[in-house]
Amino acid sequence: MADSGANRNRLPREILPGVLVCSDPTEVARTAARRFVDYAWQAIARHGRFHVALSGGSTPLEMYRLLASNEFRLQVDWPRVHVFWSDERAVPPDHPDSNYGMARRELLLHVPIPPGNVHRMEADDPRIGRAAHNYEAAMRRVLQVDGGFPAFHLVLLGMGADGHTASLFPGSSLLRETSRWVSTPIILKLGARRMTLTLPVIEAAERVLFLVTGSEKAATLREVLCGKSECPLPAQMLKPRHGERIFVVDEAAAALLEPATELSSTPEKPGPSTPRGSL
Ligand code: 6PG
Repeated sequence: MADSGANRNRLPREILPGVLVCSDPTEVARTAARRFVDYAWQAIARHGRFHVALSGGSTPLEMYRLLASNEFRLQVDWPRVHVFWSDERAVPPDHPDSNYGMARRELLLHVPIPPGNVHRMEADDPRIGRAAHNYEAAMRRVLQVDGGFPAFHLVLLGMGADGHTASLFPGSSLLRETSRWVSTPIILKLGARRMTLTLPVIEAAERVLFLVTGSEKAATLREVLCGKSECPLPAQMLKPRHGERIFVVDEAAAALLEPATELSSTPEKPGPSTPRGSL
């Protein structure tokens, strides 16, 4: 979708604490790209590195393209970035359904990130259990461990219309996992196996950023943000232990949300990492 000049200057409005509503998917992508740059800048300033888990699905595609663009690419110190994934499909890296393949095509091939800083989930390995063990070892080599779990500076997530996130699906026993870092569930409704970070790993993150767009997710988003169900959905259960959970959504997905009060239009903090001309 073309990014009209007017959208570039529209600020998201905070409809509920930590829930930013943007006019359309392009503004969601732009807001998310700005926050990626800010979080990278903060982590690198504090720790010398930025550890991020990218999400899959289609929603983050436009954000990855923006991060690869001249407007944003130069704002990130890519050699200090380590990229992991929150989940992956059991397909080869060049398969159209590969989350790694999409991020590589749209972002990683266009930025100076060292190959050793890109940690693909090898969910296509016939011995997927061994691949999950190897992935956990890669996380252990790179990430700080906090309370027994690796602490990402940022975990990017999407949400399905059924309330799943990463490859944590409603009703899965995986939602009760309390010790493993990586799991390889068979998703019955998809008839496919996945590899995914577990809930405690995602909840150990400094920040969890959900990107949700489209009217087909409006009822689920209201349930996730406002519901009181005895059996919460995976995206609803997910509560960072010490970190921040932010939803960046478009008007279509937010259509059924009632504003707590019109909290604010959240001006992006101008600062070293805010790309000029993007406010
Ligand atoms: C995946 C994702 C999954 C995704 C949601 C939303 O591998 O499919 O990790 O959790 O984020 O299904 O997908 P869309 O962005 O395509 O709506």
